[in-house]
Amino acid sequence: MKKLKAAIIGCGQIAQVTHIPNYQVMEDAEILGVCDTSLDTARTAAKKFEIEHYYDSHKKMLEDLQPDAVIICVPNKFHCQITLDALEAGCHVFCEKPPAITVEEAEQMAAKAEETGKLLSYGFHFRASGHTGFLKDRIAKGKMGEIYHTEVKWHRRRGIPGWGCFTSKEIQGGGPLIDIGAHMLDCALYLLDYPEISYVCASSSSRIGKTSKAGLMGEWNPERFTVEDGIFGYIQFSDSTSLSLQSSFAINQEEKDIRSVKLFGSKEGASLFPLKIYGEEEGQLVNLEFPFFEMRDWHMDLDTNFVHACLGKEELLVTARQGAYVQKIICGLYESAETGKPVIF
Ligand SMILES: NC(=O)c1ccc[n+]([C@@H]2O[C@H](COP(=O)([O-])OP(=O)(O)OC[C@H]3O[C@@H](n4cnc5c(N)ncnc54)[C@H](O)[C@@H]3O)[C@@H](O)[C@H]2O)c1
Repeated sequence: MKKLKAAIIGCGQIAQVTHIPNYQVMEDAEILGVCDTSLDTARTAAKKFEIEHYYDSHKKMLEDLQPDAVIICVPNKFHCQITLDALEAGCHVFCEKPPAITVEEAEQMAAKAEETGKLLSYGFHFRASGHTGFLKDRIAKGKMGEIYHTEVKWHRRRGIPGWGCFTSKEIQGGGPLIDIGAHMLDCALYLLDYPEISYVCASSSSRIGKTSKAGLMGEWNPERFTVEDGIFGYIQFSDSTSLSLQSSFAINQEEKDIRSVKLFGSKEGASLFPLKIYGEEEGQLVNLEFPFFEMRDWHMDLDTNFVHACLGKEELLVTARQGAYVQKIICGLYESAETGKPVIF
């Protein structure tokens, strides 16, 4: 059996908790080496997962090991350059989400993938959920009618990450929108099939992040908190349908965590996660629930899809151009929140 020879760039939390273990149980993939700018981190990860080669430079690793594919798990600021380097070196690339920090970067990455003929995918793992796939088919069959409004939310009561660089605008490009809201946004846009954008507008706040320290995901430094802690946006599409988005690392709500995509159609409504459908049958209002839907590991399923797509066995689920579209909305919402004005497309 042909095995995909992969290498990991960035050996932090998502690499060690998700991607390395996932690749190590796949029959048609293997990890040749790992790299991290901290050689200590790379060495420790290599030892822990019994991987032979480790480096502190991705360029040196690409030159020495010539992998078929790389999995990029570094802070957002470095996604673009490392992706370009890996594509140039002839690798397929799975880059963690979001694609990058700016639209120009995300478009440059997609263009480079097209130029080199290599695959470029992003870690939007909610896409791999069976619930999302089921709903996508139902929409394509016309069962929901015309979807005229979509509502996207990911709110954490106090979920400001106390590790990594998630509170640094310079390194991550933003806070909850680019980090967690992006997953729900990606999922909704996939379901809506990437409608043409007319304008976006948003407001944001950093009032809690800059003052409080009472957290449920570790302690952060309010003095170095340079991202939004909450953002509230609206996207108007050219066909007069719309999408509202809310996302926060910290908000004074009852629940610890709310993540959802809600679609309002002329025949049916639906909400994810979990999947529920709201419709009408024979003059009665009905709700559909799916208690027997198999709960799978969506990170694993997305990793498997990427490996199979690289080996030519499956179509890639998350494409570079879709990533660039999501990036365009993220950056538009940030620009509007900063200027206090709508951003017209
Ligand atoms: N899909 C998901 O659900 C999910 C979850 C968490 C994180 N992420 C994404 O994964 C990425 C990494 O997040 P994390 O939580 O693992 O962060 P982390 O801080 O735990 O790890 C990042 C690692 O990258 C290393 N690094 C930094 N610059 C590098 C470079 N130029 N070359 C090689 N290594 C470098 C750091 O030393 C660190 O070890 C981010 O883009 C984040 O948005 C995705």
